Amino acid sequence: MSLHIGAKAGDIANTVLIAGDPLRAKHVATTLMEKSFCYNEVRGMMGYTGYYKGKRVSIQGTGMGIPSTSIYVNELILEYGVKNIIRVGTCGAIQKDISLGQVILAMSASTDSSTNKIHFHGMDYAPMADFELLSDAHKAARDLLLAPLVGGVFSTDTFYSQDVSRWNLWAEHGLLGIEMESSILYTLAARHHAKALSILTVSDNIITKQYASASERESKYMDMMKVALEIATG
Ligand code: HPA
Repeated sequence: MSLHIGAKAGDIANTVLIAGDPLRAKHVATTLMEKSFCYNEVRGMMGYTGYYKGKRVSIQGTGMGIPSTSIYVNELILEYGVKNIIRVGTCGAIQKDISLGQVILAMSASTDSSTNKIHFHGMDYAPMADFELLSDAHKAARDLLLAPLVGGVFSTDTFYSQDVSRWNLWAEHGLLGIEMESSILYTLAARHHAKALSILTVSDNIITKQYASASERESKYMDMMKVALEIATG
């Protein structure tokens, strides 16, 4: 057991998918995995281990945002020896021509969070995905005919803001979308010699103000999940 995860040693696979919403973790475990069991219910942050195409894999809820995600990523790597972490989440697109449901592979994650500035003594670390996971996910997504986009995303600490133009600068520099977790996932994975990748589905377009319906989100989310499970077990 660790402070926030009630699993026994050996309960968690070497490769773990992480999802902000713990009920998504439960849904994936019970619909796409075989022989899954729940190893964690602490704080309602469900975690499951099961099999996909005969290979062992886990999925863990993390909650939203950098502080909550960092707790689970730290404990998975340092207390349970996890080697690969694949985030499966959503993002808001900041390029007007990106459609809802688009799958994005986050090559890098810029951030407004102070966590890295503090750690790196005021200098800017560039959090980036593991190349092998990124390359495998690109191939798996293309095989599933998902036409993935690959590029930079931005991990923010503030979902709501009154500044309507705040993403312009980042869009001008080619970033694809906004979410709230990848920068710390990539940083912690690098620090502790694990591999990480974020696979994101566009749930809204911040520029065009389009939002996916619940059913659209559901089906696209499951497409992305198959990419993650393919590379987790490939
Ligand atoms: N902002 C931050 N995180 C998000 C968004 C957003 O618009 N959409 C999905 N995750």
